[in-house]
Amino acid sequence: MSDTLILTHSQIEKLMPYSEFPTAIETVFREWGNGNVVMPPKIHLDMARSGYDSWNNAMPGYVVPQGAAGIKWIGGYADNPKNGLPYIRGVVTLTEPKNGDTLAFMDGVYISDWRTGASAAVAIKYLARKGFKKVTIVGAGTQGRTAAACIHVFFPEAEITVADISEKNLASFKQVVKEKYGIDAKTSTDANEASKDADAIVLLTTATKPFLKKEALKPGVLLLGMGSYQQAFDDAILSCDKVLVDSAGQAAHRGEIKELVESGKIDEKSLTPELGEIVAGKAKGRTSDDEKILIVLVGLGAHDVFCASQAYKRAKAAGIGTAIDLNK
Ligand SMILES: NC(=O)c1ccc[n+]([C@@H]2O[C@H](COP(=O)([O-])OP(=O)(O)OC[C@H]3O[C@@H](n4cnc5c(N)ncnc54)[C@H](O)[C@@H]3O)[C@@H](O)[C@H]2O)c1
Repeated sequence: MSDTLILTHSQIEKLMPYSEFPTAIETVFREWGNGNVVMPPKIHLDMARSGYDSWNNAMPGYVVPQGAAGIKWIGGYADNPKNGLPYIRGVVTLTEPKNGDTLAFMDGVYISDWRTGASAAVAIKYLARKGFKKVTIVGAGTQGRTAAACIHVFFPEAEITVADISEKNLASFKQVVKEKYGIDAKTSTDANEASKDADAIVLLTTATKPFLKKEALKPGVLLLGMGSYQQAFDDAILSCDKVLVDSAGQAAHRGEIKELVESGKIDEKSLTPELGEIVAGKAKGRTSDDEKILIVLVGLGAHDVFCASQAYKRAKAAGIGTAIDLNK
């Protein structure tokens, strides 16, 4: 039986620099598209009966070729930002597929934040129109920052604008992305105005009601719906020529298109191909420069588990982390 390695946020940060996430996440999308990932849909635990607006998701995944198996247990806590805590909090556990050893137990926030931003970069790589320049990120929070940094890793020439209702968050976003990632971001308090001439619009806010109008979507735009609730109005979503997803089983029932699928306005069966199939070269994504595409990225547990497994392997090799014997 193997010891369990405990890894903290700062240890994982050293083991897995953010700039490696876009390529790692692209690898997992390819494995998913090639049928090499086992990943049942995430399970949602609503904890609003605590009196707080809070929830947790159980997100298992097994990336077979790399032997990476485990689960992320992560949630959102609406009161946290005003109490100086991050909105998203969670952990990842890794399991040895052959005998059930708990290999590692680690902070899940660092990996989750960066794999989310990296998913946006991968979707833009495969679905934005050729020669795209302008990317607007709506949501100057944690995931908005990682999206900006990961998009900059793949596309250093992209012009990034960030929009948010909070001037304070915009100012801190602008400062942090300049200092840490070398990005000169423009800022705006008007998401619709800032989206009008964007080639790609990344929706990463905590808004619980739609705010993005159809008029803000120009021909050829790639819209990335990545928040936990719907952020574009119905007619904006329905004006898209294609609605693609990271995982059909999950994207139909949460986030950007949940209500439209449940009301029958979007047919769940039409949600193909998945991004993994496009990354694997098995299906076409964009077929014309004028197509308006919505990609709904609700997040794959396999992404977290794969990155956690990378961090674990590097930690073992470098002698980092605290080993404990859970079996004694
Ligand atoms: N798709 C995924 O894989 C994935 C992963 C993690 C988190 N999320 C989701 O991403 C969203 C953002 O998470 P976060 O951790 O960045 O939160 P955060 O609290 O750090 O930032 C959210 C930002 O959204 C802004 N905002 C809220 N309403 C707005 C509106 N109407 N217009 C413009 N800006 C608005 C807030 O001011 C804030 O700056 C959440 O819905 C979260 O659940 C998705």
